[in-house]
Amino acid sequence: ASVRAFQEPGSPMRRAFSYCPYTTTDAQKNQNEGVGFWLAGAVTSFSESVRVETDGAVAVVVIDNPPVNALSHHVRRGLLNAMAHITSDSDVEAVVLICAGRTFIAGADITEFDRPPAPPGIHRVLDAIESCPKPVTAAMHGTALGGGLETAMGAHYRVAAPSARFGQPEVKLGILPGAGGTQRLPRLVGVAKALEMCVTGDPIDAADALAGGLIDAIIEDNGDGGGLRAGAVAFARRMAATGGPHPRARDLDAKLAEARADPTVFDEFRARMARRTRGFLAPDLIIESIANAVTMDFEAASAREREMLVELLAGPQSAAQRHLFFAQRRAAKIDDLPPDTPARPVAAVGIVGAGTMGGGIAMCFANAGIGATLVERDRASLDRGLAVVRRNYERTAARGGITGADAEARMGLIGGSLDLADTAGADLVIEAVFEDMDLKKRVFAALDAVAKPGAVLATNTSGLDVNAIAALTKRPESVVGMHFFSPAHVMELLEVVRGAATGPETLATAMAAARRIGKVAVPVGVCPGFVGNRMLAQRRIEAERIILEGATPARVDEVLYDFGFPMGPFAMQDLAGLDIGWKAEASTGSTVREILNESGRRGQKNGRGYYRYDPETRARTPDPEVEEMIRDFAAGRGIEARAVSDREVLERCLYPMVNEGAKILDEGVAARPGDIDVVWVKGYGWPPYTGGPMHWADAAGLDRVAESIRAGHGRLGGRHWAPSPLLERLAAEGSTFAALP
Ligand code: CAA
Ligand code: NAI
Repeated sequence: ASVRAFQEPGSPMRRAFSYCPYTTTDAQKNQNEGVGFWLAGAVTSFSESVRVETDGAVAVVVIDNPPVNALSHHVRRGLLNAMAHITSDSDVEAVVLICAGRTFIAGADITEFDRPPAPPGIHRVLDAIESCPKPVTAAMHGTALGGGLETAMGAHYRVAAPSARFGQPEVKLGILPGAGGTQRLPRLVGVAKALEMCVTGDPIDAADALAGGLIDAIIEDNGDGGGLRAGAVAFARRMAATGGPHPRARDLDAKLAEARADPTVFDEFRARMARRTRGFLAPDLIIESIANAVTMDFEAASAREREMLVELLAGPQSAAQRHLFFAQRRAAKIDDLPPDTPARPVAAVGIVGAGTMGGGIAMCFANAGIGATLVERDRASLDRGLAVVRRNYERTAARGGITGADAEARMGLIGGSLDLADTAGADLVIEAVFEDMDLKKRVFAALDAVAKPGAVLATNTSGLDVNAIAALTKRPESVVGMHFFSPAHVMELLEVVRGAATGPETLATAMAAARRIGKVAVPVGVCPGFVGNRMLAQRRIEAERIILEGATPARVDEVLYDFGFPMGPFAMQDLAGLDIGWKAEASTGSTVREILNESGRRGQKNGRGYYRYDPETRARTPDPEVEEMIRDFAAGRGIEARAVSDREVLERCLYPMVNEGAKILDEGVAARPGDIDVVWVKGYGWPPYTGGPMHWADAAGLDRVAESIRAGHGRLGGRHWAPSPLLERLAAEGSTFAALP
């Protein structure tokens, strides 16, 4: 095979190899001069990331742009050039579009979103593919996402490896599929499925894609060494042999006609998704754009789709969501942990305590195919814990989330024991017993005696001193915090707490294990409450004060709900249980929470907390009795009721959190502002479209935040209002958290 080098136009090499294809004009010239460059088995480069390898009369266009074959400008340019040449080369009868490396195109190059557009645009590339007179077959493996799937839909045929997945995840970046996705996808799979895929952003698998009409064939790997590429080439030959016409997605209408006959599909879908999409701008525009596919012609609807993309791309929501995309990936990189630090393989896990957290953590590992042994203090607690796990799996299976067989298989990976020595074979042991320092110390001392050398010993404490726990063992370098969030098998966040003595391999192992079980891991340092709960505490203190000044708990909750949280601080405390950390004998009656507990209110679990709960529906209603208790309590402390504005509620709840976040950065408890944003979005329901507390504060203006903090410090006092030096400095410099190195 001959290899032809890619050269920028005008370079000396280009003159030397004047047949090297760069532009359509060059191609035409080459054709006119009779320079045939489709030598059998030839490889021709069309940009640094796109080459064409010939296989008889099939031109195999290979995109090779690691790590995920994003549609960077040189990929677009290479594709455009390649298509121009293929179109004009009479020896080529069919085209296969395939990717090197681990995946088909994973979408637009997100790093280009903040830069001026570099031609050619994706639409030009798709036009060139779609209008190619020879059949083009996209051959997909890995994940065909966003602009990647749109590129494949521009081709005439689509085939895929059995493990391939397909999705339009743009909504997760605050935008819509802007390269024809909202137009071609409903034509291929129907409106209902297109709505589902584009609004949830969740990918579908190959079987689903084949059944829905998104792909034409699954190429089974028969172990003959041929795999996807050989199968796709054979498929392309067969399609060429039919003589066409070769279908273009834009021309299909049968599936749109169904929606035309019943336009209620859009309103029904919007209503069904309302809770999930609340506050986000993109979903509504996606639905509108898919509706346009039904009512407008392809060109007009596509033009509108582009306008909407441009609008969303320029807006604050997409900027916030893109920030989170990269922050989440950066969080996994620890500056002083060399990337080649070996993570120990985790094949067996021990979990001490089979309560709320222990059971959920065991599910996380079983879901990833890793065996877990739950160790309890007595038979009854163990049986109860295992029964809860079983019930959870059965419920998921009943709802169709997994099959009954999956549920059994996962249950089969979870063992139970009453003997700590049964963790001896575990590579990772996670302690999840009661939040009691003495108990945790006893458990760790015992673990130290039985765990195998090199095993990682983790604690799920929500805020106790990991260093003190580690000090109880003879191997503090193996001790780390792995702070899961409740419910552990659902919540994505994991704070990985790095103790003073935590060794690099221990840290690398905890981070890798977190990734294995699909968690978003954020490394944090040791301090009371770590990052998430420490900031939450500031919000709780201020929310408590605000209700003494006259805003009702329901009003405070409404303001935070309207901001985008799934629930406000009082509803959240009711849900978690008002008695967490409260003991009758130690109660001093000095907070509203304490007096509610003293009056027997425990939150949702006994139907009475800050709210009253309907025993049947669990619906909450404000409780006048509680409001009276609050008024009396405030009056007893000489606090006069006044009108508290919604804006004051919001700023008093959230600005002290930002201030605390800045202190956390100053202390090095979190490495980057983006890490804090990820914690709050993934662990506490901070609305992603504002990017997390630190990104949100940047957008509000740090001078304004700092001024409000100073004023609050003067007027209200309290440690949480004491201005963070970092916040003060950035505000004075007119800078932002994002600008920190
Ligand atoms: N553009 C640029 N970089 C990207 C990227 C993209 N679309 N997708 C992933 N990357 C980068 C990541 O930032 C990461 O970089 P570092 O190694 O420097 O951290 C690297 O590729 C690997 O990514 P992951 O760690 O996420 O790898 P993974 O194997 O866990 O997941 C993936 C791979 C499923 C493709 C995942 O990266 C992903 O979901 N990517 C985003 C896909 C997406 O949203 N595409 C739509 C883009 S928008 C679009 O396409 C709009 C349009 O048409 C007009
Ligand atoms: P839980 O009370 O539901 O479960 C604790 C379990 O530990 C009980 O089943 C108990 O029988 C068992 N246990 C007690 N002593 C034991 C021993 N010596 N050996 C073996 N098992 C023993 O408590 P939960 O909520 O699961 O919390 C566990 C830990 O996780 C605590 O440190 C808590 O702070 C932390 N955490 C809790 C979260 C939550 O929302 N519930 C969130 C994040 C962390």
